[in-house]
Amino acid sequence: MTRKILVTSALPYANGAIHLGHLVEYIQTDIWVRFQKMRGHECWYVCADDTHGTAVMLRAEAEGIAPEQLIERVKNEHMRDFAGFLVGFDHYHSTHAPEVHELAHLFYQRLTAAGLIEKRQVRQYYDPVKTLFLPDRFIKGKCPKCGAPDQYGDNCEQCGAAYAPTELKNPYSAVSGAKPELRDSEHYFFRLSDPRCEHFLRAYTSHANGVLQTEAANKLHEWLGEADEHLLTDWDISRDAPYFGFEIPDAPGKFFYVWLDAPIGYMGSFQHLCAREGLSFDEYFAPDSKAELYHFIGKDILYFHALFWPAELTHVGFRTPTKICAHGFLTINGAKMSKSRGTFITAASYLEQGLNPEWLRYYFAGKLSGGMEDIDLNLADFVARVNADLIGKYVNIASRTAGFLARRFDGKLLAADAKLLALSSVKTAAPRIAAHYEAREFSKAMREIMALADAANQYVDNVKPWELAKQADKDAELHLACTNSLNLFYRLTALLKPVLPALAEKAEAFLNIAPLVWTDTTALLPAGHTIRAYHHLMTRVDLKQVEALVAANRANLAPAPKTAKSAGTAAAETSGTIGIDDFLKVDLRIARIVEAAQVEGAEKLVRLVLDIGEEKPRQVFAGIKSAYDPAQLQGRLTVMVANLAPRKMKFGLSEGMVLAASDETGKTGGIYLLSPDAGATPGMRVK
Ligand code: MSP
Ligand code: ZN
Repeated sequence: MTRKILVTSALPYANGAIHLGHLVEYIQTDIWVRFQKMRGHECWYVCADDTHGTAVMLRAEAEGIAPEQLIERVKNEHMRDFAGFLVGFDHYHSTHAPEVHELAHLFYQRLTAAGLIEKRQVRQYYDPVKTLFLPDRFIKGKCPKCGAPDQYGDNCEQCGAAYAPTELKNPYSAVSGAKPELRDSEHYFFRLSDPRCEHFLRAYTSHANGVLQTEAANKLHEWLGEADEHLLTDWDISRDAPYFGFEIPDAPGKFFYVWLDAPIGYMGSFQHLCAREGLSFDEYFAPDSKAELYHFIGKDILYFHALFWPAELTHVGFRTPTKICAHGFLTINGAKMSKSRGTFITAASYLEQGLNPEWLRYYFAGKLSGGMEDIDLNLADFVARVNADLIGKYVNIASRTAGFLARRFDGKLLAADAKLLALSSVKTAAPRIAAHYEAREFSKAMREIMALADAANQYVDNVKPWELAKQADKDAELHLACTNSLNLFYRLTALLKPVLPALAEKAEAFLNIAPLVWTDTTALLPAGHTIRAYHHLMTRVDLKQVEALVAANRANLAPAPKTAKSAGTAAAETSGTIGIDDFLKVDLRIARIVEAAQVEGAEKLVRLVLDIGEEKPRQVFAGIKSAYDPAQLQGRLTVMVANLAPRKMKFGLSEGMVLAASDETGKTGGIYLLSPDAGATPGMRVK
């Protein structure tokens, strides 16, 4: 039976680059979609950029461009990165599009008609300098629980406490640095607490309904509580101007909150695809639709997808998702991705460094399961696994036998023999592997496929074609051995194709066959079929490439070149000017002097302790004693070079440099420490 399946990945925010963490999701989804397509199902994969919100608005402003320009540029970058990793969307849209706008209105009208929208006064922090209501993430202050400074308005990164922004001590706006004021405003709420929503969600998210993974259904049960607890609270779906988003009809100055239109973006993207491909939107979204709808998401956005979204859909009069597939988070070398460690690796840098995207696709496939546990990319293991499995096992089968077939038999195959079937046991393995793909148990699928590759290599080891080739009377045996090996290779290629689409395409050209489909996993190439010349299919990954990748991602924090002479660029040496790239190598940061003290035995130095928003403050020795009394420095802001190589001094380690002006002619003899204008906060980049 041909299934009709619509698949989505979460819509990436338009204010940042795609990184390897994102790719866990897009690669996972893409593998699943490619598998469904190979099975012959009608499967569509759509996505879009998530373009609205305060963060996008402020970033565009900081860059001096319109938000529309920013989201256009970022969308192109995202599409380029996804294409680079062979993520094959059928359509990639934007939430800032007419389809989404119209649908958002429709949602709002129908929810209003159903009595599920309510207006209410809320009291919120407002930035009087920036004239803007502040989202929680843009308010910082002292944690009310542990007192840690500079914590966000929603939770503390030090002690993990969750709270309302109004609970922060000494709050300040992360946008302007100003002290925020509390102001009243009228907001629109989606009444999730309505008994109709609760009733629906209890049934929809139950274990028995099968929409959610076990862990996710458990979480939902926690959020819903027991029948008499009524834990669900209404959801604030509006934001006040200035805001980059869709204005709410008949409510000037009020906009839909970004998370209201984001999932509607799935539908908008699909609607666009329907127009292009002549598909019926209703067939996929009518309440009685027989089509399947799959949302692949990260576990961090389960709340939006399993509560608000289905509750909205059902009350607007659309179908609800068939399955919500949540995955865990990516760690690298066992830790959260980190800019300073160079493990916050962008998709673009991976490709720019010349690493093969299919190495990562295979590695992720080898780690992914149908569950929500985090997955670790261990870089040494990555090198070992890719080389051992893809090159050492899979590609090896073709490279060991293709040459003989071309040189000795004009590339013509015999009929593969029956022994082969028994040997490879693909006939029984293929349906199991299909079930693993279907259940997103990709690591299990990869394990079974590699066991088959081991068996195929064992076959080649046993028949020893290289020895048969030396014996004049063993032509027929050699011919059969090569035929059998290449048939095994052909089937393995079909099994791996959802994970390695580009490699499979090369193999298809070499095998001289039509694009592989799932039934090829148990088929054989016909006798007399001619293959083409073998060209190497994939190179090994070198640990040095991975090290270079990490170094490239650490680049903006790495120690700057020691002197212009030894490491300066050609431009600096010839024309006396530098390019912007050279300048950007210097990581200048706003620093707060949290401590300043005399240094015993040092004539010129003051010891400074500088907060630049890092976990541990920096110690810097500065030659400013002649001009400043340490006591007067405490608490003030200045600018420091944050990526200067640390220097061991007689008095201790100096981890950077503060910037000061001085008269080099020595006339005035003064030293003048730099200060930023009011509003700058520790850690801000200076450029
Ligand atoms: N814009 C929202 C999604 C809206 S969907 C209607 C969003 N964007 S995001 O860019 O932050 O994340 C996009 C997806 O990537 C999310 O599913 C998120 O869970 C996933 N990941 C982001 N970082 C990740 C890791 N480090 N590891 C695994 N997945 C990660 O959320
Ligand atoms: Zn805290």
